[in-house]
Amino acid sequence: MQIRRADPTDANVLSTIRQQAIRRLAVPTLSVEQAEAWATGVTSDRVPRAIQEQAVWVAEDVCVIGWIAVDHDRIAALYVLPSAAHQGVGSLLLLHAEATISSAGYRAVYLDASQNALGFYLRRGYTQSGAQTADGAWPLTKKMQRGADE
Ligand SMILES: CC(C)(COP(=O)(O)OP(=O)(O)OC[C@H]1O[C@@H](n2cnc3c(N)ncnc32)[C@H](O)[C@@H]1OP(=O)(O)O)[C@@H](O)C(=O)NCCC(=O)NCCS
Repeated sequence: MQIRRADPTDANVLSTIRQQAIRRLAVPTLSVEQAEAWATGVTSDRVPRAIQEQAVWVAEDVCVIGWIAVDHDRIAALYVLPSAAHQGVGSLLLLHAEATISSAGYRAVYLDASQNALGFYLRRGYTQSGAQTADGAWPLTKKMQRGADE
């Protein structure tokens, strides 16, 4: 498996992975209705814009099996193809994103975790940084290690 930067030709595949990940992996923690609202509650330019405006990285085996979006010091998206879940792909993408954020000089990573992914992030060193939002997300943060010369 390799991790590479996404390009605009990846948009359709990344949109499909996003929808499948939400529908298959967020349920049953979320209800089918909640997952459906999340899966469909974005405009069609959501993924192309992320590729253009954020740093999007894909995990690729024989095909793309997951992706993560970084917006400055925030993880803006993380989705893994259901057939590739529970094999470490999400963890690897998260580590890669944290390394890019840390390399850019940020001292902490921020994200809003959906209820289904809360445990995943807590087990990877994130802590709650605010109250649950109106749409059910949990604001989380993780301090980055400072470089040896700091
Ligand atoms: C959350 C999400 C990205 C995790 O992706 P993933 O690739 O399954 O993540 P990992 O495989 O790295 O870790 C998931 C679990 O599988 C376990 N695992 C990893 N490799 C494994 C292996 N080879 N065999 C068995 N289990 C394994 C991990 O230990 C982890 O369990 P833990 O959290 O108790 O440690 C994925 O479930 C997803 O896309 N969910 C829907 C969208 C979503 O919620 N995104 C986050 C929005 S904030």
